[in-house]
Amino acid sequence: MSAPVLVLLGPPGVGKGTQGDRLAEKPGWVRLGTGDLLREARREGTELGRKAEAYMDEGKLVPDDLILGLVREKLEELGQETRVILDGFPRTDIQARGLDELLPDLGRTVDGVLLFEAPDETLVKRIAGRRSCPECETLYNVYFDPPPEEGKCGRCGAELFHRKDDRPDTVQGRLDVYREQTEPLVRYYEAHSAELLPIAGEQGMDEVWDQVRTSLRDALGLEV
Ligand code: AP5
Repeated sequence: MSAPVLVLLGPPGVGKGTQGDRLAEKPGWVRLGTGDLLREARREGTELGRKAEAYMDEGKLVPDDLILGLVREKLEELGQETRVILDGFPRTDIQARGLDELLPDLGRTVDGVLLFEAPDETLVKRIAGRRSCPECETLYNVYFDPPPEEGKCGRCGAELFHRKDDRPDTVQGRLDVYREQTEPLVRYYEAHSAELLPIAGEQGMDEVWDQVRTSLRDALGLEV
């Protein structure tokens, strides 16, 4: 049997990256975060990065064909024994269908979808307070999880940055894009029989992690 594939679904700022990183610290797990992969492509100045730039800064979705090509390439690089966390993908009906066509070629299926939810005011505050490390990608939050020294990564010392798409004028647009284009995937997965595992994302990071572990154990028999 091939190793599990999990999807992390939920609005911007709900904590998908935070919980995905915790899971990826466990042996055998790899997190593929499409947002992180796109930001890396931009830093490296690749063709994909250049094409994605304007969409990302405006809080819009990058075209499906670019995203599906990126995810296919990354999944093909991983062996079947790697446990995969898809963070921020799929985000549209076309992406979900594309994933369902791609996975059988790789001997895999979507085993579970962790659905993170939190009120909009929580999301807006978390996004406003987020600081990211450009080197090791560690996440911080000036309100909830500050770095040991202001503005500096506690892990590698690099200067932290505030994502361009985290500006207040872009955030509402990203929430609207989520509600219009990504939230309908809940119905898609209900109809396509992947386990849908609701997670109350407004709780503290450790409480959310406990929910993730319990859900994976109870619904999918996965101990993490
Ligand atoms: P992406 O990077 O995927 O952004 P997102 O989905 O908008 O998600 P975020 O990274 O904003 O939030 P998160 O849920 O990961 O929260 P986090 O853990 O950081 O995408 C960016 C852009 O790339 C898109 O707008 C689009 O342009 C493009 N893109 C990416 N994928 C695409 C796709 N598939 N198709 C098309 N375009 C795509 O937490 C947020 C903050 O809160 C952090 O500071 C954290 O420390 C803090 N925090 C987390 N959990 C808690 C907690 N429980 N309590 C208190 N604070 C917390």
